[in-house]
This record gives sequence, C-alpha cells and structure tokens, in this order.
Amino acid sequence: MQLEPRFDALFGAIKALNPRVTDVEIGDIIRVQTDKAENYEPLAKSLKPWRKGPFMIDDLLIDSEWRSYVKYNLIAPRLCLENKSALDLGCNNGYYLLRMYELKPRELFGFDPSERFFLQFSFINRFLNAPIDYFLKGAQNLDEFLERFDTIVCLGVLYHRSDPIATLRAINGALRKGGELILDTLIIENEASVAFTPWKRYAKMSNVWFIPSLKALGAWLERTGFCDIETIAIKPTNSSEQRKTDWIDGESLDDFLDPDDKSRAIEGYAAPVRAYLRAAKR
Ligand SMILES: C[S@@+](CC[C@H](N)C(=O)[O-])C[C@H]1O[C@@H](n2cnc3c(N)ncnc32)[C@H](O)[C@@H]1O
Repeated sequence: MQLEPRFDALFGAIKALNPRVTDVEIGDIIRVQTDKAENYEPLAKSLKPWRKGPFMIDDLLIDSEWRSYVKYNLIAPRLCLENKSALDLGCNNGYYLLRMYELKPRELFGFDPSERFFLQFSFINRFLNAPIDYFLKGAQNLDEFLERFDTIVCLGVLYHRSDPIATLRAINGALRKGGELILDTLIIENEASVAFTPWKRYAKMSNVWFIPSLKALGAWLERTGFCDIETIAIKPTNSSEQRKTDWIDGESLDDFLDPDDKSRAIEGYAAPVRAYLRAAKR
C-alpha cells in the first residue's frame, strides 16, 4: 500500500516488527503478551493520537481517548457474523474489527481513509495477525462494492457526511439481499421528524452536518431502502467513555461541553447523545 511520503518511515518501522507473541486476549482491552524482547512504546507513541482502544502490549497500556468497548458492548448482542462477509465503514484503527473477528466472519473488511489510523491498525495487527482487509477508502467508494457485504457496521460516521441520505443509499447498495446495517449516529432528542445542522461547530467539531431526531433517522433509513428498523440503545456520551488521556495531545469531551452545565455542548446546543440501530436491507 502506498502512503503519503511523511508516513514512509513509520510504515517501514511497523513492517519491520517481528514480535514473538505468546498470548492474545480479545476482550474490552485487547491484550497481547510477547517474549518482551522489545520496547514497543516509542513506536506506539509516535502513532498518536490513539482515539480508539484500549490495547495492551505486555505492560504497555495504550489508553485511548475512547473506551471503545462501551460502544462495542452495546452493539455486540446484535452482531451475528458467523460465516458472513462484514465491513466496518469508518473503522478507525480497527478496534471493532478485531472484536468482530472473534465472531468468526467468513471475511472482514475495514474502510477508513485516514492513513494514521491505518498505521495504528497495521501496528496492532503485527501482533494479532488477523486476516482483515483494511482499505484506505470511505463511504464515497461503496459503489465499487455493490451487493458485496452481509453486514455493514457504520459507527460515528453519518453525522460527518454532508449528504447522509446518499451515504445510506450507498450503504444499502453495498449490502446483499437480506443484509443488515448496524448504525450509530448522533441524534437530537425531539419527538418530531426533524434534523439539526449546527451553525458552525458542534462540540468543537466543524465537520458535523446533520443530527436527526430518532424519527427522522427512521425516515432516512426507510426512504433509502431499509426495513425492520430496531433501536438497540440511546446513550449520552460521558467522560467515562471519552476522556483526555496521555495517548492524545488535544482536547476531549470535558473541553467540548459547557463547564457550567455538562448537559450542553460548549456552543450551547444539547450535549452529544447517540442512537444505536439495526436495520435490514429491504
Ligand atoms: C468519529 S470517528 C468514528 C470511528 C469509529 N467508527 C467509532 O465509532 O468509534 C469517524 C471515522 O470516520 C473516518 N472517516 C473519515 N472520512 C470518512 C469517509 N469518507 N468514509 C468513511 N469513514 C470516514 C475517520 O477517519 C474516523 O476514523
């Protein structure tokens, strides 16, 4: 895979790793034990920011900004991947893919256009060696994969898309007949079928476009070819799930909320709440 030249040295260092792994444990923390012949901390640190995780290599805890098992444990009871072809769209560093691998899919794909997150995945997977196909692709590339997957997991991506309807249509098109989508996206708590667009930023993110109510999200899904829509969970993001750690340099949730009223984002809008849904291809 060809990356930007600024990543050549890092990618080279990752490819040169040849760890002797003595034990692997895939749980909320993805842990590996090696013969401890090497110190992996400098390379892991040079791959910051680690948004998703946590991972543990010997005694080194990669304490990512997000405790991604909170999200994974919400969707896990609805994931039936055995012998299926599955895609994690917007897979970041592959934390969820590595958890999904435990469910014995026939084939497992991750799409994410970020080269840094791909490097993190490549680093972790030097230890785990999971047969996962990671592509530097995004939602805009789904039309190359028509009717290809049984399950698409799309977490935390839809509100970053300026055209969420086109994204849902593309996801639907990439699913086989009888396939299913597991979706997580920000919602607004409102009984009407409406969507909210932040004026400039939402929780300091300038790339948030549409945040629907649950009803509007249902309408989006129905109108883009889904049926049997099921709400798995609705959950506000809190600082036990997303917080500043040494593995990111910038800010985290506490800085994105109003310091005097944690039920508000810093811009005055309602604080982040996410809905987790399952929908079948019609
Ligand atoms: C908020 S993070 C969510 C990561 C992970 N899915 C999760 O829920 O924890 C958004 C992810 O979408 C990825 N992304 C950016 N552009 C994308 C695109 N066009 N298609 C799919 N994913 C994209 C980002 O690199 C990032 O990893």
